[in-house]
Amino acid sequence: MMLITMGIIKALDPTTIQKIAAGEVIDRPSSIVKELIENSLDAKASTITIDIDNGGLSRIQIIDNGTGLHPEDLLVAALPHTTSKITAVEDIFGIHTRGFRGEALSSIAHVATLSLTSKHQEADIGTQVIATLSEISAPKTVAHPTGTTVLISHLFDEIPVRRKFLKSPATEFGYIYEIVSHFSLIFPEVTFVLRHNGKESLNTRGSQNISDRIGILLGGNAQKQLIPIAYNSNDIHVTGVISQPGQTYPNRKWQLFGINGRPVKSQILYKATMDAFADVVPARRFPLAILNIQLPADSIDVNIHPQKLDIKFQKSQHVYDAIRRAISGFPTRGRPASRCSRRTQPFHTSITASTHECRYRKTGSQKFFFRAIHLERIYE
Ligand SMILES: Nc1ncnc2c1ncn2[C@@H]1O[C@H](COP(=O)(O)OP(=O)(O)OP(=O)(O)O)[C@@H](O)[C@H]1O
Ligand SMILES: [Mg+2]
Repeated sequence: MMLITMGIIKALDPTTIQKIAAGEVIDRPSSIVKELIENSLDAKASTITIDIDNGGLSRIQIIDNGTGLHPEDLLVAALPHTTSKITAVEDIFGIHTRGFRGEALSSIAHVATLSLTSKHQEADIGTQVIATLSEISAPKTVAHPTGTTVLISHLFDEIPVRRKFLKSPATEFGYIYEIVSHFSLIFPEVTFVLRHNGKESLNTRGSQNISDRIGILLGGNAQKQLIPIAYNSNDIHVTGVISQPGQTYPNRKWQLFGINGRPVKSQILYKATMDAFADVVPARRFPLAILNIQLPADSIDVNIHPQKLDIKFQKSQHVYDAIRRAISGFPTRGRPASRCSRRTQPFHTSITASTHECRYRKTGSQKFFFRAIHLERIYE
């Protein structure tokens, strides 16, 4: 006899669908900070001030001096899929902004209370709206300088399971600090001020280049060890800094890449960087590399990651080679340091070694030795 049971598949209700979708974009306070900084940068802000209370669990406030929003735009900005940055899917392949999906503000409003106050540069007065999962308030006229203030509260109040996954306020603030410091290195022309519970923890005012910012974030010693990078090949331009091979860190925290002004985490870029340094840094140590990479907008796909953190390259080998050459000259010039002899031999032609850094095998004992530290870059 055949037993027929009831079907088990049900359609989710719209509120659950919205909460699940929002959770892919906003999983903790630092992802809110990332999205809001991106919006401020897209609005051409030159100063971004971030105030955090209780690791972002109680309050996140971001003030920028960008172009601001028109009152009509303020009413729709927090609705799902509303954006001023693209109009058709093809536009994603020519994008120069950090946002494009029109879902960050609506995702935030689905998991928290979002207050948006803004004055557009052409408007006389500011406007404020408050958005939550269930409603967007009527607009209120308020005094506000040109630019935008976004205030987030009641984060994950309606999604207790998400709140349970958050760490301590100090750890959550640590994630926020990392995000803000990364943006401050990829955008050295923009001033970032970050406060936690009213206490200033980062202020980049007065420093307008990567080197000075590394001085603020990592101290004068790290700043002194930097090697500037400037590399051009056909359509790829790489600028930034790397550390001397003797100045390394226990993790990848200080390997940052901006692709056309979009901070990304890319395995290809990490690999190219580590391969370029392979023979001159010890195993499980990570040199600093802050690289801004410019390449044609239509050669990348920025729409492959829910938080827009990863991107796809049309010619990934091309990009890998460019980063490797930018850092070490390898493989087009010079030779890998693994072929260094014990005699003085430069790491590659664009870097000379004052004392040579070269790993070599001591025959017999199979032990690897590490020699010398200081490399000095000679500009091509
Ligand atoms: N700080 C800001 N200054 C000026 N305009 C803003 C600001 N924040 C948001 N906006 C406007 O609100 C719109 C919606 O922002 P939202 O972050 O939700 O989407 P997006 O940036 O277009 O795309 P994404 O979801 O990829 O971030 C933006 O397209 C922009 O026009
Ligand atoms: Mg955005």
